[in-house]
Amino acid sequence: MKALILVGGFGTRLRPLTLSVPKPLVDFANKPMILHQIEALKAVGVTEVVLAINYQPEVMLNFLKEFEQKLEIKITCSQETEPLGTAGPLALARDKLIDDSGEPFFVLNSDVISEYPLKQMIEFHRGHGGEASIMVTKVDEPSKYGVVIMEETTGKVEKFVEKPKIFVGNKINAGIYLLNPSVLDRIELKPTSIEKEVFPKIAAEDKLYAMVLPGFWMDIGQPKDYITGLRLYLDFLRKNSSSKLATGSHIVGNVLVNESADIGDGCLIGPDVAIGPGCIIEPGVRLSRCTVMCGVRIKKHACISSSIIGWHSTVGRWARVENMTILGEDVHVADEVYSNGGVVLPHKEIKSSILKPEIVM
Ligand code: GDD
Ligand code: MG
Repeated sequence: MKALILVGGFGTRLRPLTLSVPKPLVDFANKPMILHQIEALKAVGVTEVVLAINYQPEVMLNFLKEFEQKLEIKITCSQETEPLGTAGPLALARDKLIDDSGEPFFVLNSDVISEYPLKQMIEFHRGHGGEASIMVTKVDEPSKYGVVIMEETTGKVEKFVEKPKIFVGNKINAGIYLLNPSVLDRIELKPTSIEKEVFPKIAAEDKLYAMVLPGFWMDIGQPKDYITGLRLYLDFLRKNSSSKLATGSHIVGNVLVNESADIGDGCLIGPDVAIGPGCIIEPGVRLSRCTVMCGVRIKKHACISSSIIGWHSTVGRWARVENMTILGEDVHVADEVYSNGGVVLPHKEIKSSILKPEIVM
């Protein structure tokens, strides 16, 4: 089986992290987002993953070469010369997706995290005999997603409305599809939206089916959702592979710590924290609801909550970093500084406090 991951877009909502790497390579729970997906695809027998890319393909490919060998899966790129939206890239990669087997293929948005119940999806797809399957999930705020109206018993989609302005329902497109090769005949090689132009048509012919995704789901393409997504993911680890989570009297709730990270005495860490490789957390530090990416140093008695600390940054002694502060790569926060929702671009030094949420260039 084959799969295509939509990795285009500039990831503007996840800046400043996406100023350093393409969105799919931003770490989530200590590994690049896209690896969570590739591993899940591999687990259900996918042998080739096509990355639909519209910029920086070298960065992506260099990075993934290593994992191609480790995971024993073929990873190739299909590069657009202009952004082709969410459907156009399928037409571009047509020859890579179709083979003699006539099997359906997976398509994934690159910024969604879930339990990836892909095996159940294959069974669901075989069962309904339609042309395309999509996963849906319930959310409180459906207006920023694609909303799906479906027949509860069969899953047949009656309507697909992308980003509706008025409330039509709360089941939304989770960005995980299984499509028959015939769907490719519906897509022209030009900028096209699968959500606005392709799914509504398949639904109108009664050939689009939706399966309610079991377990958690989150689009982690925005900082607030990224932090919520980490909580959901760590909850899932707690239930399914709790041995991966940290233990000890200094740990509160669910915490993931890379084995090469060093945590000093008298720290209190958690809940919902991920600490990446090579991090140094000095004594007396307090961390909650945050991600600390590879190579970061948090100095003595600093306190960080609801924030993301980008690769190789440092946070000074007694500093207080909170309220969706996002530090880009290699940012240095001086001792005793306070950050209330600062969004700091890479390679900056922060010497005075950021009192209200703002972008620091
Ligand atoms: N190759 C390529 N080219 N990929 C693209 C392009 C493009 O021109 N534009 C967007 N993508 C990729 C993004 O990288 C992402 O993985 C995916 O397509 C969806 O784009 P987003 O920009 O993240 O869309 P969204 O989050 O607003 O909405 C989409 O996802 C929701 C679920 O998270 C839609 O599919 C909604 O229907 C859905 O509910
Ligand atoms: Mg998205």
